[in-house]
Amino acid sequence: MIPERISCVVGARPNFMKVAPVHQALARRGLQVRLVHTGQHYDEKMSAVFFEDLGMPRPDAFLGVGSGNHAEQTARVMTGFDSDCEQFRPQLVLVAGDVNSTLACALVAAKRGIAVGHIEAGLRSRDWSMPEEINRIITDGCSDLLLTPSRDGDANLRQEGVPDWRIHFVGNCMIDSLRTHLERALALGTAAALGLSAQGYAVATLHRPSNVDEPPQLARLLAALGAASERLPILFPIHPRTKKRIEDAGLHVAPGITLCEPLGYLQFLGLLAEAKLVLTDSGGIQEETTALGVPCLTLRANTERPVTVSEGSNLLLGTDTATIGPAVEAILAGQGKRGRIPELWDGKAAERVADLVCGGFRTLLDA
Ligand code: UD1
Repeated sequence: MIPERISCVVGARPNFMKVAPVHQALARRGLQVRLVHTGQHYDEKMSAVFFEDLGMPRPDAFLGVGSGNHAEQTARVMTGFDSDCEQFRPQLVLVAGDVNSTLACALVAAKRGIAVGHIEAGLRSRDWSMPEEINRIITDGCSDLLLTPSRDGDANLRQEGVPDWRIHFVGNCMIDSLRTHLERALALGTAAALGLSAQGYAVATLHRPSNVDEPPQLARLLAALGAASERLPILFPIHPRTKKRIEDAGLHVAPGITLCEPLGYLQFLGLLAEAKLVLTDSGGIQEETTALGVPCLTLRANTERPVTVSEGSNLLLGTDTATIGPAVEAILAGQGKRGRIPELWDGKAAERVADLVCGGFRTLLDA
C-alpha cells in the first residue's frame, strides 16, 4: 500500500526526538501527516520545550491523558486515539520507542485494520519485568513496518519468527535529530553558563522504576554518585518520578551533585556533548553518548541497545553500586570508551523511512 494520510504519535519525552525527523521527512513529500500528542508527558519541561527545540509544529491533536497507573494510562490513550482515528482515518500510524503511548496507539490502529509502523523496532532487554519490554514486544507484534535502528533488532525479530518482508533496517531516527541540532546545542553554552568547564563535569540521570522506586536502592545510588562527585562535579537533571521519591524518602544528596529541573533537548544535548562522562539508566542517552563518543556508564542490569556496548562508548555496570567508583576512576584515568558510530546512525534514517512509506509496502492484511 501507499498511504496518503498518516498519523504520527508522540506521548512521552523520548518519543519527540525520534518522531520529529520522520514527521518532517513525510511532510516534505507532500503527504497528509497528522501529529498526535497523547499527553502522557505534560509538564512544560517534559514536553512543550521539545517541540520548540526540535522545530516541531503544534500537535494537530492533544489527547491529554496525563499520569496514572499502566492500565489507566494505556486505556485513556487507547480511547482518545481511537476517536482521533475515527475522525482523521489514517491509513498508516507511526509510533516510536517503547512507552505506554506507543503500545496503546499500535493496538488501536491494528484493531482498526490500519497499518502500523514502529520506529525503533526489534530492541529487546530480555527483562520481562520492564514495562518497556512488554510494550516493545506487543507493539512489534502488531506492526506491519518494523523499522529497526540496528542489526541486533533485525536478528531479534527473525529469532522470534518475524518474516523478512516486515523488517526494515533504516538506522537510528533519534540520531538524525542529534546531528541536525548538535551545533545549535553547543552554541547555547549551557555548561559554561552553569559554571562548568568542558570535560570537567559528569551528567547523571535516573528514572527507571527498578532504580528509583525502592528507597534503599535509590539511597545506594545517590551515595555512589555522591562519592563520585568528590572527583568531579555531577549535574543531575531530575525526572519528576525521581524527585518525588527522593523527597518522600527524605534522602541525602551530596553537595557535589547539582540537582536541576529536567532540561530542554538543546540544553541537554549540549551538556552531554561536553561532559567527561555520563551516568544513566535511560535508553536514549546510551545511544546519544555513543553518537557523541562520550563515555557512558549505564546503571542497569541489561540493555536493549547492545550495539552501544559492542561498538559504542557504553559500559553496562549492572545494579551493584560498588562498580560505579572504579568505573568513574578508570574514565578519569583516560580509559573511557570512545567507540565508533554504529551502521546507519548517519542522520538519514528518517529519509529512509519516508522512502519506504512513499515506495509502497506490504501489510499484515495483504499477507
Ligand atoms: C516514561 C516511560 C519510560 C521513559 C520515560 C522517559 C512508560 C511505561 N515509561 O516513564 O519508558 O523512559 O517516560 O521520561 O511509558 N510526571 C510528571 N510530569 C510529566 C510526566 C510524568 O510529573 O510530564 C510524573 C507523574 O507523577 C507520573 C510519573 O512522573 O506518575 C511517571 O510518569 P509516566 O509517564 O508514568 O512514566 P515515566 O516514569 O515518565
